[in-house]
Amino acid sequence: MNCCRPQNYNDLFDEKTARRELRKYRRRGPSRTTRALITALEKHGVEGATLLDIGGGVGAIQHALLADGVTKALHVDASAAYIEASRKEARRLGHEEHVNYLYGDFVALAPEIEAADVVSLDRVICCYEDMRSLVGASVQRAKRLYGVVYPRSTALVRFMVNMLNMFLLVTRKTFRVYVHPTSEVEAEIIRGGFRRCFHREFFFWQVAVFTRNGQSG
Ligand SMILES: C[S@@+](CC[C@H](N)C(=O)[O-])C[C@H]1O[C@@H](n2cnc3c(N)ncnc32)[C@H](O)[C@@H]1O
Repeated sequence: MNCCRPQNYNDLFDEKTARRELRKYRRRGPSRTTRALITALEKHGVEGATLLDIGGGVGAIQHALLADGVTKALHVDASAAYIEASRKEARRLGHEEHVNYLYGDFVALAPEIEAADVVSLDRVICCYEDMRSLVGASVQRAKRLYGVVYPRSTALVRFMVNMLNMFLLVTRKTFRVYVHPTSEVEAEIIRGGFRRCFHREFFFWQVAVFTRNGQSG
């Protein structure tokens, strides 16, 4: 299984990519889908909450939610360059002391990671072949809200991803993109004791937020 080998991620999400993404983030703010996820999480109230941001990239979600009153965030990422970029931005925004960073594969690190009120995976599920382990372990660490951005499992999206994977193959990259069926991703989250409270589809991506059963938000 080509699950998370940190080298795959460091090759693709390298320093150059992280610098470019950070410049883009500073110029334009979060992408449309990330903004949709942030807004949906904010609607449930995040003041005083803790956040576990898995594969946070340059940290768009944590920067926004820390500004909203999240007290503590943990950014787990398999890209060392993204962690550095995220830390740099946290320093610039003045909330570095509220964020901890952990480098590596979340699934391998999960046993040592504490549960948080809010767990986010923004465009991360599509990087990981063993979706059940990634979603299962992360949902177990969510106390209240679980937010995800991942590809829609339509024929067109699958075709586009197949093309992309072919390109990665011929350029000798070991990284692959996965389109996990929506029904299987959701079944895993529901098995973890959550129900969907927000869903929005874009052309390629879908954004969903889940709340723990028995909680209002
Ligand atoms: C496509 S990037 C998305 C970055 C950011 N969330 C965004 O939407 O701009 C995927 C990120 O997920 C991280 N990632 C993927 N699988 C991971 C895993 N199993 N554990 C930790 N990080 C992971 C990668 O290192 C990378 O930072």
